[in-house]
Amino acid sequence: MLLGSLAAGALLSIPKPLQIFANEKKTAILTEVTGSGNPLRFPPVFTNGGNLTLAQTTKQVWPGQDTQIITINGSYPGPSIVIQKGQTFTANVINNLSEDITTHWHGVSVPANMDGHPKDKIIPGASYTYTFPVINRGGTYFYHAHADMLTAKQVYRGFAGFFIVVDPAENYNLPSGNFDIPLCIQDRRIADIPNFNYNPGNYEMMWGMLGDTVLVNGTPDPYLEVSRTLYRFRLLNGSNARVYKIAFSDNRSFHIIGTDGGLKDAPVTATEFMLAPGERVEILTDFSSNTIGSNVTLKSLAYTHGGMMPYKQGIPLDIIRFDVVNNNSSGGIVPAAFAPISYYNPADVVNTRTFTLTMSPSPPMHKINGLTFDISRIDWQTPLLALEKWKIINGTADMHPMHTHDAQWQVLSRNGNTNLPPNDKGWKDTVNLNPGETVEVLVKFISYKGLYLFHCHNLEHEDDGMMLNFEVTDPIGIHQIGTEVPQSFELHQNYPNPFNPETKIKFDIAQSNSNLTAELKIFDIQGRQVAELYNGNINAGKYEAEWKPESLPSGTYFARLTADSFSKTIKLVLTK
Ligand code: C2O
Ligand code: CU
Ligand code: CU
Repeated sequence: MLLGSLAAGALLSIPKPLQIFANEKKTAILTEVTGSGNPLRFPPVFTNGGNLTLAQTTKQVWPGQDTQIITINGSYPGPSIVIQKGQTFTANVINNLSEDITTHWHGVSVPANMDGHPKDKIIPGASYTYTFPVINRGGTYFYHAHADMLTAKQVYRGFAGFFIVVDPAENYNLPSGNFDIPLCIQDRRIADIPNFNYNPGNYEMMWGMLGDTVLVNGTPDPYLEVSRTLYRFRLLNGSNARVYKIAFSDNRSFHIIGTDGGLKDAPVTATEFMLAPGERVEILTDFSSNTIGSNVTLKSLAYTHGGMMPYKQGIPLDIIRFDVVNNNSSGGIVPAAFAPISYYNPADVVNTRTFTLTMSPSPPMHKINGLTFDISRIDWQTPLLALEKWKIINGTADMHPMHTHDAQWQVLSRNGNTNLPPNDKGWKDTVNLNPGETVEVLVKFISYKGLYLFHCHNLEHEDDGMMLNFEVTDPIGIHQIGTEVPQSFELHQNYPNPFNPETKIKFDIAQSNSNLTAELKIFDIQGRQVAELYNGNINAGKYEAEWKPESLPSGTYFARLTADSFSKTIKLVLTK
């Protein structure tokens, strides 16, 4: 699968193509058949700006047998979105199902009305155009159903797909093209084959909908033919409830390079890690010590947990078999380090919030601080740009992969221990809490105000109401654009200009060793200060301030940014 074989124009502008994803075509590399199963499927690549049509369709998930599922543009899982950071993503989502839908872009920072909140439902027969600038770091994100109390059912029946952000500035000679492989891991029930039956009873509502066989990219018993070289695997747990303990059958070590929010600061060697619903982990795996004709299987190892057989957490499962077939080289390397992540300083925390997860025997069973989800209730407000510590206490005997919208967290501690496993360290939007565990995360909402969700990503728990609404507020009228750290200070010309009634002023704060403060003030033509848009401590980043001078007359004004030794003034023209 070469780039040239992809029709998707969007990919052509990406210098280091991900090959992921067109339909696998066999070239002349086939050697002997080393085992049974089905070749790994790759969803088609979405053409930016096009339609995503949800429909109830019959597909052959298991060869020769019909399965009633939800497809997106005829595909299960949905098409893979591959988009460059900085581009504007646009998709017209068409609901040809007989029930409400919304689409949520998991891990991606988007304006509140683009986030797929269940209040923004798309009714049957209707459509909605989602459009937003891609400001996230390069990384493996995904999209999925999020309609009120229908998320679990619709995801189980097929409503999910990859959302991969490519950052051309991340130039580390990682394996790419045919050697960069997305793996969406989902469990289903052998007893239901070939159906994706979804009728959760009390047991499923309590523990989640757990299967006993694994599909990868919608492929049952999958295998992938690989070369004796280094691969990048992007693992997404797209299951409703199952938590996998990922490892290889030969217990080989590999390199964890990415978490939910993109690359870590450096690869970390590991032999296993936990992957809960909604989480992503990227790894580099080297097959060069394998002989041609050998194989190795990616597995979920056994671990102890509650529930009853066969649908219980912790049962051992095969995920995908890699058949080593030739000596091709990916040319990829395991870099010594990636760009540093600037870790939040717990001393800068301005608000601490506590969330206690509880479980009761009759529905609704799962609560956060004694509450179940109310679509029209706002449970708390968080100001933009304020560093918060969220202390999440799991008072139950089950696992809960907790997830926030609109931001990436940094995990601070597990049970008070700040020495964290490698898949916790980095940017995270979903963090699994083991039974009885307390996890602290640091979070700062930087880009968008509005209504967002905090919930358990065990989708049965979510639909049972283990979800709260919070509102990100904008008390100072300034927000950050992405997580980029600019090279130098700058005050950009406002836009629009001339303006009425409001204008936006962008500025860049570069990294500096000292404790940085900034002032953004507006003066009239006589030099009198008429507004103070910002005055205080600030971190490096790209910012945007809004100015709406309701009671000032038309005329010329000046905005001045002072930060560190930088000072610059721009001219603004108000025309009422
Ligand atoms: Cu991936 Cu609100 O969920
Ligand atoms: Cu999400
Ligand atoms: Cu839960």
